[in-house]
Amino acid sequence: MSEIARIILDGKEYELPVITGSENEKAIDISKLRSTTGYITLDPGFKNTGSTESAITFLDGEKGILRYRGYPIEQLAEKASFLEVAYLLIYGDLPNIQELDYFRGSIAQHTLVHEDMKRFFAAYPNGAHPMGMLSAMIASLSTFYPESQNPNRPFKDIELTMHRIIAKLPTLAAQAYKFTMGHPIMYPKNDLSYTANFLNQMFGLPTTNYEVDPVIDDALDKLLILHADHEQNCSASTVRIVGSSQANLYSAISAGIAALWGPLHGGANQAVIEMLEKIKNDGGDLQKWVDKAKDKQDSFRLMGFGHRVYKNFDPRARIIKKAADDVLSKLGVNDPVLEIAKKLEEVALKDEYFVERGLYPNVDFYSGIIYRALGIPTDMFTVMFAIGRLPGWIAQWKEMIENNEPIGRPRQVYVGATVRDYRPLNER
Ligand code: CMC
Repeated sequence: MSEIARIILDGKEYELPVITGSENEKAIDISKLRSTTGYITLDPGFKNTGSTESAITFLDGEKGILRYRGYPIEQLAEKASFLEVAYLLIYGDLPNIQELDYFRGSIAQHTLVHEDMKRFFAAYPNGAHPMGMLSAMIASLSTFYPESQNPNRPFKDIELTMHRIIAKLPTLAAQAYKFTMGHPIMYPKNDLSYTANFLNQMFGLPTTNYEVDPVIDDALDKLLILHADHEQNCSASTVRIVGSSQANLYSAISAGIAALWGPLHGGANQAVIEMLEKIKNDGGDLQKWVDKAKDKQDSFRLMGFGHRVYKNFDPRARIIKKAADDVLSKLGVNDPVLEIAKKLEEVALKDEYFVERGLYPNVDFYSGIIYRALGIPTDMFTVMFAIGRLPGWIAQWKEMIENNEPIGRPRQVYVGATVRDYRPLNER
C-alpha cells in the first residue's frame, strides 16, 4: 500500500499522498492542500520544499553524494569531458561517438556572436562587472533570434537555441574581459576544444602565438564538470521559474546568471579571494578572522565555508582540492594569498565552531584558488562558474518545459496592515 501522511487541522483529519523518489527520498505531496483545507505551508528559503520531481541530478548532502543522471561526479570528473557531461545532462544519457561529434560540431559552428553586440560592450563604463555584462548580453541575444520567443517550437529549433547559448557564452565572457582590458577581441577558433577555445579568446593576442597549456586546459574542463549542475539551487530554481512563464530560454539563462552572481551562491568564489587578500593585507592573523566569523555580533562569514545542503563534506570540494594541489605544483605557483588559503583551511577545520556546524570548505573555496593560479582575474571567477553551470540550467529548463510544469507562483502569509482608509496628504 502506498504511504500516506495524515494532518489534523481544525480537528479534522486529512490524508496527503507520499511520493517516493528513485533513491528513496520521501516527500509529502501538498499540491492540493489549499484547495482541500484552506491552509498553505510556510517554508522561507524553501529549505524543506520540493519544487519539482526531477530526473537530472541526485545529491545527498549528509552522505556527500552527487550524481548527474545516475553517474557519480567522481567518475565523470576523472573520465569525461565537459561537453560529454553537458550532453548527458541535457539529453539524459551519455552520447555515443556520433552523437558527441554532432553535439561538438554544432556548438563549434555557433561560437561567433553578431558583430553589433560589440556596440553594447563599448557602452559599459570602466570597471563594469563582467557578470552584469554577461547577464545583459545573454538576454540581448534573444533580440537577435526573435523566433526563440515562441516556446512552442519543434524540438530541433529549441535544440538550436540551446547549442547557440552553449557556444556563445564563452565567446561573450571572453569579449567582456577583453573590453575591460582595452584589448582587441580574439575571435573563436573552432578547431580548438571548448575550453581551449575559451582560453585562447581570453589570453590570446593578435600579436603573439598563445599556446594553451594542457594542465590549464584539463583543470578548467574538470572545474566546469564539477559545476555543471546542482539540482534545485538558487539559480536553477530561478531559471525554471522564469522559464515557467514561457519566457524564452535566453531570458531564463540571463536570470540564472543574475541569481548566480550573489556572494552566497556563485559569487562566493570571488568573495573567497577578496577575503584572503583582505586577511593578507591585514597582517595575516588567521585566528582573528576565524574569531570574527564566529562572533554573532559581527556580520563577517568565512567565505567558501559551509553549504546549504552538504553538511559533512562537499564531494566536489574533495575532487577540486586535489586538482588545486596538482595545478599549483605543476605550474609552480608561489602565491602568498594561496598560502593563506591553505593555513585558513587548517585552522578552521580544527575549530569546534566549524566542526559542530558542519562547515567545511566548499567547491568555491578551491575553485577560486585554481582560477587565480590559472591567471583568471577575480571578477571573472563567477563567470567561469556560469559557463560550467550552463548545461545544468538548460537541462532544468528543458525538463520543466517537457513536464508541462505550471507557472511558478508561491503563496505567502500576509502579515501587513489590515484594511484602512486613505487619508488626504494634508491630514497625515
Ligand atoms: N562562516 C561562519 N559561520 C557560518 C558560515 C560561515 N561561512 N556558514 C554558516 N555559518 C553558521 C551560521 O552563522 C549558523 O550558525 P548558528 O547555528 O550559530 O546560527 C550556522 O552556521 C548555519 O548557517 P546557515 O546560514 O543557517 O546555513 P545555510 O545552510 O542557510 O547557509 C551558506 C549556507 C552557504 C549560505 C552559508 O554557509 C554561507 O554563507 N557560506 C559562505 C558563503 C559561501 O561560501 N557560499 C558558497 C556556497 S557553495 C556554492 C554554491 O553551491 O552556490
